[in-house]
Amino acid sequence: NDLANMMGVPVTQIIATCMSLGLFVSINQRLDAETIAIVADEFGYEIEFVKPEDEENTELEEPDNPANLVPRAPIVTVMGHVDHGKTSLLDYIRKSNVIAGEAGGITQHIGAYEVTLDDGRKITFLDTPGHEAFTAMRARGAQVTDIAIIVIAADDSVMPQTREAINHAQAAGVPIVFAFTKIDKAGANTDRIREQLSAMNILVEDWGGKYQCQEISGKTGENVDLLLEKVLLEAELLELKADPKKRAVGSVIEASLDKGRGIVTTVLILSGTLRVGSPILAGSHSGKVKALHNERGQKVIEAGPSTPVQILGMSGAPTAGDKFYEMENEVEARQVANKRLQLQREQGLRTQKHITLDEIGRRL
Ligand code: GTP
Ligand code: MG
Repeated sequence: NDLANMMGVPVTQIIATCMSLGLFVSINQRLDAETIAIVADEFGYEIEFVKPEDEENTELEEPDNPANLVPRAPIVTVMGHVDHGKTSLLDYIRKSNVIAGEAGGITQHIGAYEVTLDDGRKITFLDTPGHEAFTAMRARGAQVTDIAIIVIAADDSVMPQTREAINHAQAAGVPIVFAFTKIDKAGANTDRIREQLSAMNILVEDWGGKYQCQEISGKTGENVDLLLEKVLLEAELLELKADPKKRAVGSVIEASLDKGRGIVTTVLILSGTLRVGSPILAGSHSGKVKALHNERGQKVIEAGPSTPVQILGMSGAPTAGDKFYEMENEVEARQVANKRLQLQREQGLRTQKHITLDEIGRRL
């Protein structure tokens, strides 16, 4: 009946079509995806399946109020092949830009940091792993990011995960700044890298192309300031803005169970401002913000656009990449979460086949 209404045809015709396929269905019967596609095709329609979560998500986000839009810091994801120097670069940036007295506080490793430069400009960085197994994380990183720094070790070459990172950034329409790292090492040859990139149709600026690139060392810190300037230049062109007055929305970076503190969820706030006490929803889990901590482990009372923040108070651990919402009230948050959990269970039952012990381990 729903399908008939969507296509504007009498429901009897749908039933007749199903019969011709050998299916005897009633008016209220649910059809599986394949049958829906075949039946729709008979009537000249192509079916696009929308995940209920995606549809719901657009409804959960409060729209921006244009009058409240203010500039926000760029979110920059560092991507590249394994061991090419992503984390070293980020560590250097963090260490050289921490306010005196705070340095000792940097103990936690979370994959997101906010850095304030001398002149007060801010950049939010996301680290991603280069290992092959983390394709999904890189893809998600590319989705929340404004600019991608793609790191390539000058003593090595353009490698599989370099290409993959480039593809993710391009697919997401994210501007790329290349960082040729490890220039302090013997055997560093950045022209070889430029050449390999040009073979992929990527011409860097000093070869007359449109892609900015910078030779750096994450070890000595050489030219890292120049790299940041290039990133900020790219950011200026984007004129990034957000509405800090609306209910917070963000993206889950990681979540884990801490024995003493319960579920610790790191989210990157994309718009709005999150405060202690707010009802929240992420994936199929809900809760209420009990405490907020910045990346240095310090308590904060609120987190605005482009800030990474650790949240205590979720009922369960959401998955990295899940959208995160501040809700109007806890009841609604719980209802949506429960509905999603229910759907997941149903789908799990339907697709359950042979589960290995290893997979069970991963689910826990
Ligand atoms: P994954 O997260 O595993 O993908 O690696 P990564 O890209 O984060 O690389 P990481 O920063 O961990 O660096 C890998 C190795 O290269 C480490 O031993 C670093 O000390 C070294 N390294 C990174 N950058 C530089 C650099 O600029 N110069 C030199 N000499 N060594 C570097
Ligand atoms: Mg790393």
